[in-house]
Amino acid sequence: MAETKSRSRHFPAALARLGAFALAGGLALACGQGAQQQAALKPTPTGEGASVSALMQQRHLSDADVTAALETYMPTGKHDDYYLFASGGHSGQVVVIGLPSMRILKYIAVFTPEPWQGYGFDDETKKVLAEGDRAGHHLTWGDTHHPALSETNGDYDGQYLFINDKANARFAVISLKDFATKQIVVDPLIMSNHGNTFVTPNTEYVIEGSQYPAPLGGKYAPIEDFNDKYRGAVTFWKFDREKGRIIPEESWAIELPPYMQDLADAGKLDSDGWAFLNSFDTERAYGGNLEGRPPLESGASQNDMDYLHIINWKKAEEVVKAGKTTTIAGMRVIPLQTAADEGVLTFVGEPKSPHGVDVTPDGKELVVSGKLDTHATVYSFDKIKSLIEKKQFEGKDPYGVPILPFKDTIRGQVELGLGPLHTQYDDKGFAYTSLFIESKVAKWSLQDLKVVDKIPVHYNVGHIVAAEGDTEHPKGHWLVSMNKWAIDRFAGVGPLLPQNFQLIDISGDKMKLIYDLPIPLGEPHYAQIVSADKIHPEDTYTPTGIDPVTGEQPAFPSEGGKERIERQADGVHVYMTAVRSHLTPDTIRVKEGDVVHFHITNVEQAKDATHGFAIDAYNVNLSLEPGKHSDVTFVADRPGVFPFYCTEFCSALHLEMAGYLIVEPKGAPSAKAESEHHHEAD
Ligand code: CUA
Repeated sequence: MAETKSRSRHFPAALARLGAFALAGGLALACGQGAQQQAALKPTPTGEGASVSALMQQRHLSDADVTAALETYMPTGKHDDYYLFASGGHSGQVVVIGLPSMRILKYIAVFTPEPWQGYGFDDETKKVLAEGDRAGHHLTWGDTHHPALSETNGDYDGQYLFINDKANARFAVISLKDFATKQIVVDPLIMSNHGNTFVTPNTEYVIEGSQYPAPLGGKYAPIEDFNDKYRGAVTFWKFDREKGRIIPEESWAIELPPYMQDLADAGKLDSDGWAFLNSFDTERAYGGNLEGRPPLESGASQNDMDYLHIINWKKAEEVVKAGKTTTIAGMRVIPLQTAADEGVLTFVGEPKSPHGVDVTPDGKELVVSGKLDTHATVYSFDKIKSLIEKKQFEGKDPYGVPILPFKDTIRGQVELGLGPLHTQYDDKGFAYTSLFIESKVAKWSLQDLKVVDKIPVHYNVGHIVAAEGDTEHPKGHWLVSMNKWAIDRFAGVGPLLPQNFQLIDISGDKMKLIYDLPIPLGEPHYAQIVSADKIHPEDTYTPTGIDPVTGEQPAFPSEGGKERIERQADGVHVYMTAVRSHLTPDTIRVKEGDVVHFHITNVEQAKDATHGFAIDAYNVNLSLEPGKHSDVTFVADRPGVFPFYCTEFCSALHLEMAGYLIVEPKGAPSAKAESEHHHEAD
């Protein structure tokens, strides 16, 4: 660098430039003169005017590398074609990523407090988190697995996103107006979920299938009573699109045998009104490796077949309406025997330790992959339906659920490779299945059941997601492989490595791997990719001062010109506004032990004019987006002087956007009487 500087000082700019390029083998000549050129002076051809081939040589890039770069590069100010909503695994969040650039756009806090969004810090979102309390415990994390975008007629409509918490049998409703969590729903029946969240084609229901069997309703039973007292369940949660909320009172569930139910999918078109759940552990093993029983993993892998659960949910609705339910923990449940007798629940074998079940875009077929089988099995819904109608069963399981003859339900099987998991679809009749053990993605023809291409991924792929690849109209174009291990893909960061999202171009005959994105957040699972033109977020909260969670007027509104401090029976209420670059009021006097209620509105109208609100020592940090109202309540139990300030760099005088919370010690003579202070504020 020093050499460059001296060169530019002693030679005319153009000459120096030529010299620099000649030294480094540059081919292109820059034109133009002046200050800009001075700034661009470098001894290597990486500046403007450098040729692509020189850059390629210098950075050891192949033609394929450069093509990949051009496919993903998004010039400044340009927007991506797609949004990818990925589960943030056990961070309890959702990651929003732009495609094809793979730029991270947002983390949405869901089950875990997150200070940037003020999530779990203001009273409004504390309430949302508290909705998710379970068994009397306040939970501050979740294990998110499967996000689902709301659908209209089997296609994404861009309105809502749902995401589950496997660990605590919960899920959340996120509005895509502000990309924020509005509701957390706890399932009172089950202790963990996995087949969640999956929506029916018009988002009538959000499907939640359990994973690890337990006595329903959170009850106790000895584990030796596993077969008799432990159960699975699938809950159909009624969604009210207008209110943007799940209505528990209109929801219902079906009792299932104590197999470990796995992923779910809703039927569409021909198979609308039906839902499908995988299961493993039809052996009903429950571990006990220090008690003389086999460990769960081998105990659960004895049988060649487990059961695909076929659920007629339209029929189930009628059964619920007819009152043939029992109520457990406040939830209406169709008992297992009733479900079997009424044709609500039917089984068919599925090989072996199945994981993914994915309905084809036309709704006519289901693809199931078994982790310990090298095939994907393609079931015909027509065949399934007609066998059920004719009651052509080959037997019943120990709980009386009828079983269809496997061979008569399938169209065929396709040999894919080792450890097939999940399948997605494109717009040209191809299916894509992740192969965990091989660390590959297989592309195969749905028509001929033949593999046409395979691509290595790095490493241990779990879910894959294609653009709108689980809807009636997949877009093709892009697929993202969500790999569990990164190993050598990125610079070392200690023993805990990020996961690796790999972008694959699926628009041609051969798949092309073009980008690696490290995800340093949690163990992500599934994702959804939606065309960006379906997403219409709002820029500000309107009208100014509304409660962002309920969308209604807050109980304690605060507006410009009406800022004040009031002592009431339940403590001191501070009605505050935030606008560049001041918080009003900025001097707040309370007494030790007072309950302090802040009611703050950001009265800004301008896009992106967000303010923060942090108070020293009281664990307060709010995010006040334009128009947003937030409340925060705490006991001023520690006397002292506590600066508060804006945590977003909002303006030139951002540092001055501050004030003092003065907590007078008990018994101390007031420097300024409280009443006088009121009059000042008025
Ligand atoms: Cu407001 Cu910084």
